[in-house]
Amino acid sequence: MRKPFIAGNWKMNTNSLTSVGLADHLASGSIELEGHAVTLAVFPPFVYLRAVGKALNGSNIAIGAQDVYFEPDGAFTGEIGVSMLKDIGCNYCLCGHSERRHVIGETDELINKKVAAAISGGILPILCVGELLKEREASQTNEVVTRHVKEGLAGLSAEKLAAVTIAYEPVWAIGTGLTATPQQAQEVHDFIRNLLARMYDKNLADEIRILYGGSVKPANAADLMSQRDVDGLLVGGASLKADDFLAIIRTAL
Ligand code: 13P
Repeated sequence: MRKPFIAGNWKMNTNSLTSVGLADHLASGSIELEGHAVTLAVFPPFVYLRAVGKALNGSNIAIGAQDVYFEPDGAFTGEIGVSMLKDIGCNYCLCGHSERRHVIGETDELINKKVAAAISGGILPILCVGELLKEREASQTNEVVTRHVKEGLAGLSAEKLAAVTIAYEPVWAIGTGLTATPQQAQEVHDFIRNLLARMYDKNLADEIRILYGGSVKPANAADLMSQRDVDGLLVGGASLKADDFLAIIRTAL
C-alpha cells in the first residue's frame, strides 16, 4: 500500500516574510491532518529553508530543497551540497525538475549524479521526468520518460531505489493551466511503474510512489488522485496559497 505524498514546489517565489507566513498558515492548517497516513513536504527556495523548517517544526510537513549538487564540498561556487541540506533539517530534494532541465540545461547524467549523491547522504530524492509538448505530439512521451527514468536511476541498486520518488510532470502542463487528464496521467504512471518492474522487480515497482505535477489545483486534484497509479501530487502555483494547498492535501486523505 503506497502512502499518498503531496508536495509543494514554491520555485523562485516568496520572500523572508511571505515564506514564513505561508509555512505558519500550513502548520496551523495541518493540525486537522494529524493521524492521517499522508506524506507532506514543501520545497521553498534555499535561502528560506531554515526559517520555513522552524515554522513547520512540530507539524507533519517536512522540508525539501529544489535542487542539490552532487559533490560533497569544495570549490563549487553557488552550489549547495547534500550534507548542508541534512544539516538544516531537509529530508527531500527535487532532482531534474523540468525547469532545471530546460531552462538551466541539466543533463540526465548530471541529474543521475544528484540522485545518487542525495541517497548516499540520506536525502530522499524526487526524480522529475516528463515530455515537452512537441514530444507528446510526436508520440514520443514513452521514449522521453524511459530515457529520464533509466538515465536518472542509472547504477542505483534496488535498495537505493526504495529511497526514490518519481514525479511525472509533463512540461506542457507546468504553469500553463493545461492539466493532463486523469487518464493521460494514469497511462504514463502505469508505463513508468511497468518500466521500473522491468528494470528492478514488480514488488519493488509496486512500492515506489509516482506523483503527478502540472497545473494541479483544488478543482482537479481529486480526479487525479483517484487514478490507481497516481500516488500523490507535486504542486507548483497552487502550493503558494495555503488554503489551496490544504484543499489539495485533503483530496489525499
Ligand atoms: P504548476 O503547478 O505551477 O503547474 O507547477 C508544477 C511544477 O512544476 C511542480 O514542480
